[in-house]
Formats: sequence, C-alpha cells, structure tokens
Amino acid sequence: MRDKELLKALSKLLSNSGFMLSADIDTDAMKGVGMEALSSKIIELNQGATGITVVDMDMLRRALAEIEKDSASKAPVPVEVKRATDFKPAASEIEADYQIKNRPSDRAEGSVSDFVAYFRSRLSRIKEILSSHRAYAITQSIGNMKNFMSGREVVVAGILTNRITTKNGNIMATIEDETGEAKIMFMNNPNTEGKRLFESASRLINDEVIAIKGKISGPFVIAKEIVWPDIPIRERKVIEDDIAIAFMSDIHVGSKLFMKKNFTKMLSWLNGSVDTKSRTLAGKIKYIIMGGDVVDGIGVYPDHDRDLAVLDIYSQYQMLAEYIEAIPDYIHVFVLPGNHDAVQRAEPQPPFPEELLDIKLSNVHMVSNPSTLVLHKLNVLAYHGTSLDSIISSVPGMSYAKPEDAMLELLKRRHLSPVYGGNIIVPTQTDNLVIDEVPDILHMGHIHKNGLLEYHGVQIVNSGTWQDRTDFQVRQGHMPTPCNLPVFEAKKYGFTTVDFTGVV
Ligand SMILES: [Fe+2]
Repeated sequence: MRDKELLKALSKLLSNSGFMLSADIDTDAMKGVGMEALSSKIIELNQGATGITVVDMDMLRRALAEIEKDSASKAPVPVEVKRATDFKPAASEIEADYQIKNRPSDRAEGSVSDFVAYFRSRLSRIKEILSSHRAYAITQSIGNMKNFMSGREVVVAGILTNRITTKNGNIMATIEDETGEAKIMFMNNPNTEGKRLFESASRLINDEVIAIKGKISGPFVIAKEIVWPDIPIRERKVIEDDIAIAFMSDIHVGSKLFMKKNFTKMLSWLNGSVDTKSRTLAGKIKYIIMGGDVVDGIGVYPDHDRDLAVLDIYSQYQMLAEYIEAIPDYIHVFVLPGNHDAVQRAEPQPPFPEELLDIKLSNVHMVSNPSTLVLHKLNVLAYHGTSLDSIISSVPGMSYAKPEDAMLELLKRRHLSPVYGGNIIVPTQTDNLVIDEVPDILHMGHIHKNGLLEYHGVQIVNSGTWQDRTDFQVRQGHMPTPCNLPVFEAKKYGFTTVDFTGVV
C-alpha cells in the first residue's frame, strides 16, 4: 500500500540531500516509524554517494532494520521492580468497586451542519445548568428581546462569539443563541462596581456559554453582571472504605528524558519494597489513574526524533505495558490517552486499541479521554488537559506554574475545552466535553506541574509528570515538578504527595 502523506513527508526530507523515492515503495513497512529518523538513517547508509540516489524497497528495509536495531540497543533494560515478601497491603483485602463511563468518541465529517449541531448542543446543555441558578432565571431568548423597550431588565444566555474593545474603551461582546445575536456592552466606569465588571469581562473567552444580567439600551444590552455556569457548594462525600487513589500522567515512556529510575522506584514502592513511613499509604492504593501522554510518541513536534530514546511507537507502548504489568494485581489501573499518544488526536479520544497497548490483565482498563470513573461512590473526572494551553493563554492571570487555577476556570465554565480551535475536538451531534455532572475529583495532567486545590468541595488535582525538564520548557522558563505522586485517601478525604525525586 502507498500512503501518500507518508511518501510526501519522506520525499520532502530526502530531496534536499539528493535522494529520490522509487515507485515501488510500500508505505506499510514504514508505519510507526518517525520520518525524520528514517530519512537520517537513509542518508547515513548512503554516505559518500554522489549524484542522485534512488531509494528503493531494499534500501528502505535496510534502513528500517537499522532503526530497529538502534532502538533495541537504546531501549532501557526491562523493568526491575522490587517486591517485598512481608508486604500485607490493606487494599488487597478490599473488594474493588468501580464503574467506567467513557465519553463517546464518534467521528464527524466536520460539515457546517455538524458544527451547527455541535454548538447547539453545547448551548442547550450549558443553558440548562445556567437555568438552575435560581437568582438568575434566564428571562427570554435573544430573538424575543427585539420587542423590548429600552430600560427593561433582562437575563439572557448565549455562546460568546466575539469580544472587542471599542474606541471609547468599553468592551463589546456578541452572544448568540438559536434565535439571534445580542450585543453586550461593558462600560468602562471608573467606580468600584464598574472596575469589577470590566475585570470580569476581560475573562470572557470565545465559544463559552454565559448568561448576562443587564438592561436594554437601544440595540445593546448594558451589562450589570456576568453569570458563569459554575458549580454549587457541595458537601464532601463520606467514604467508609479506607482506600486510596494514585494519580499520574505524562509518563512519556520512550523519551530520553523519561525518569525511568524514579518511576521504577515508585513501582517498587507500590509493591511494598521501599521502606519509608509511607509504606502503609502504598498498601492502601486500590486505584491508579494514568492521565495521558503515557508514552512520548513520534512526530508530535518538529525534530521530535532527537528527543527520543525509543524511535518505534510499538516499542514505546510495549515498554509501558511492562511497567503497568509490574503494578500489583489488586490495584485497578485506568489508562487514558493524551496528545502525545498514537490514537485519534481529536477529543474525546477513544481508549487505546489492543494493537497499540496490549495488556491482558483484568485489573487494567483502557478508557477514553476524558472519562468518568466512579470509585467507591467517588466521581472522578479524568481528562488529559490539552485545552489548558488555550485557557492559560486566554484568561488573564493564568500561568503554567499553577495548572490548578486553569483547571478551575474549566470547571466554572462547565466545559473541558471551551475555546474552539485551541485544540482539536470532534464536532459531534452532542458536545461530549460538557461537564454536566459535577465531579468529586477533577484530574488532569499535560502541564507537567503538580497542583492541588479544593473548590466548593471538588478536589482538583494535576498529577505532574515523570519526564525531566525538556529544552522547550527551559526556553519557556517553565519549571516542571517530575516524580511527585499525588495520592488521595478516600476516608480521610485528603491528598498526600509522595516524592520520588530523591536518590534512587
Ligand atoms: Fe505531556
């Protein structure tokens, strides 16, 4: 078979060095291999050649074989997890109680009608949440307001399609519902109330659904207040079972910077062989959530190959499988993909297929990104967190140093990826990224920085990373916090972060 995209990519990389692809190239053999690695290997194998060199199937096979050999020699040695024979983990005595709620990850054509249906679904689902705010009952649809006199008080809800600063320094936002669009003015008043409202308006982001309380004035609604869907204050749940949930993400197996020794030490700790005060805590762990970027992937960004220790995607997942298999079998493990993983990039992402991550253990579960896991009555919403980038760049005051704040912004907007186009999402008939059910725990990764926060009774946790600081992060001035494992104890209802950064 000939995959035109692959051929194009390889041909582009080789053409400057005097190479031409022959017509018999079968791209099936190239699948799962980085094109940059392949082209460099072909160039290396033909060093000294002059003129135009034709790359045929024989040469391609030789290059692929060399890559596989390199990969095998560079691949970290098999997992050496230590197990303690005297370890009596409490969690092994407790029966597992879990339910998996995957989000549908159907594909869509991306036609205009798909987008219309998608945004309608977003609007109606979040409007329903807004309607539950008794103090701000939505009084009418936007289309209805045309007949209203100036001065009338209204509460309208819609999807934000535009926000500009006018010549006079006011903010004008456009919101839309299925009946029309409304222009909302936020006046730049210097009084305290005006400043507060203006500050709120600067936090509005494209494509989010909000309600506006205001007064009609000619063609505008003069805003008095912005109402976000938000979440009500909730009581913490009472969990009788003394179990714990460990959160990890961004393991990046296959990267040169994957912190293998520390990760292995953590696996040994789970097996009771690291004798620290936290050994009892290790024994309480009944569930582990791996929140995406479980391997480093290939071709995720330009020149990615340079940062890879393992150049073959299947080998990366094979190594990950070996690590997961070293986790004690009474612990249930839920694995979801992230933006580095080799499944569909558009969110919701489907669970890993068997061809990629093949683990035949009844305690290991492949789940979608995002997904909800109900663990002993605790609702855990797990999402990789790719949209955190667009939230950090759109909302004033957000930063990579505090991912928990950006996660809170998503929670208040009741949507996991509100800015359309910030990252790829599937425009399906139902918007499957709405946070309709308020979780007890909201788990994300992606930022490589640990963060914890409690808001209205919801535990927000970012589980950091197991990858060392990358060159990109150095250039960005971002300081990741690798090898810190947040563990939530259900009965105590609190987190302990176990530090695996020390000497190993
Ligand atoms: Fe990551």
